Amino acid sequence: MKPARLVVVSNRVGPVRGAAAAGGLAVGLVDALRENGGLWFGWSGRAAPAGRARLHQEVAGGLMLATLDLAQHELDGYYNGFCNSCLWPLLHFRIDLVRFERADFDSYRSVNARYAQALSKLLKREDVVWVHDFHLVPLAEELRQRRVRQRIGFFLHTPFPPTEILTTLPVHESLTRALFAYDLIGFQTPEDLERFRNHVVRACRGRARGDRVSAFGREIRVGAFPIGIDVEQFHRYAFTAPGSREYARMRRVLRGRDQFIGVDRLDYSKGLLRRMDAFGRYLEKHPRSHGQVIMLQVAPVSRGSIESYRDFRQELDREAARVNGRFARFDWTPVHYLNRALPRRTLAGLYRASRVGVVTPMRDGMNLVAMEYVAAQDPADPGVLVLSKFAGASQYLREALLVNPYDGEETAEAMHLAREMRIQERRRRHEALMRHINVHDVGRWRRDFIAALQEAPAWRKSVRKPG
Ligand code: ADP
Ligand code: F6P
Repeated sequence: MKPARLVVVSNRVGPVRGAAAAGGLAVGLVDALRENGGLWFGWSGRAAPAGRARLHQEVAGGLMLATLDLAQHELDGYYNGFCNSCLWPLLHFRIDLVRFERADFDSYRSVNARYAQALSKLLKREDVVWVHDFHLVPLAEELRQRRVRQRIGFFLHTPFPPTEILTTLPVHESLTRALFAYDLIGFQTPEDLERFRNHVVRACRGRARGDRVSAFGREIRVGAFPIGIDVEQFHRYAFTAPGSREYARMRRVLRGRDQFIGVDRLDYSKGLLRRMDAFGRYLEKHPRSHGQVIMLQVAPVSRGSIESYRDFRQELDREAARVNGRFARFDWTPVHYLNRALPRRTLAGLYRASRVGVVTPMRDGMNLVAMEYVAAQDPADPGVLVLSKFAGASQYLREALLVNPYDGEETAEAMHLAREMRIQERRRRHEALMRHINVHDVGRWRRDFIAALQEAPAWRKSVRKPG
């Protein structure tokens, strides 16, 4: 069954064509939406003076884009405040960084209400609405209050934390209740799904049976829908110009040295500090690698007006400088560190030129970089992926070298094993990884989610008693 129109809602929208997009959500959705068109609704990326926030509508790349400006005070309270200083650390198990302010939560609710107000006017009867990520938990509740009865699904791109962590949030019940206004909730991995089911049972006096979860007088459907990438496209990027030119240029610059590559938004959840430390340990333990390896870390600034992100950036600058200060020689700098987003084709060429992909988040919903690195490799002479056990991707990419990023020795040793790995072993692992990412690509993610949403029982106003 094909939806008459897919309406995707996410805080971050686009860019739809070509440009660099740092962040898994935008990348995943552009790929998914390109397949069947539709409407994409969200924030315009602009701060407008209060009272002058407009709705912009345009057609781009075969899609209808509808985006809303937010006022600076809304960005402060909703985006910088509740979303990224409270929910983001909480969802990544970092209670120590959580800053809860009731005023921020109020702003979060009121921005969701404003989104719902604007979106409800654009919806058609036969639409299927797919809402993305933690910025928009209350959106369905707000839409329902505006008599929207279409099917609405929600996909969480981040991890879902254990109930013991979630219940430290003073407004956890309000958020969980809001989730029950959706018809289907999707998670990245079965572990996230299990933690949600457990939370509903333990903290909300609800019930969980198979893919049905009930609480707050409603029964909804739940499932794990692992996000993927457009494998064929990314591989093509690496092997055709301009990606292939970047590859060739990088190889010339490397002059036979081996490159380790990391590509992440500058976010404390990505494990960049520990990664630098592990690279330093690797250099310390393997002096023969001196002059022979380079760590290229591409890390564009993300959420830069938030204090914890600014502090983190300073620490990372220091850590990269520390490793370079300790090991560099006049003709060799071990860490190359860039704070820039790069075009996707350039990235593909750089991944291809790198012997080791280092993806070591402390906690991550899925992690698309891991899959991009695999897709960009030459099957005849592939590089090796070092992957954190705490990325959702580790549940699927079992043939990567899996590490505990809290263990610097283990991560350093994995870097060593990856660099020394024989070609047969590299090929075997790469083939297995490719099998997974080819099957679980972005198209399947979208199709499976939409199919499950269309099969979910339609919204009913009637109260359904749990059990
Ligand atoms: P997150 O959604 O937390 O940022 P993911 O690994 O799932 O993490 O997705 C990140 C996406 O952003 C990937 O598609 C990656 O290629 C892209 N990205 C990350 N860093 C850069 C960069 N420096 N330049 C361009 N794209 C980037
Ligand atoms: O994938 C997780 C996520 O938080 C997305 O929701 C978001 O678009 C992306 O990371 C980048 O973050 P931001 O939109 O805050 O720049």
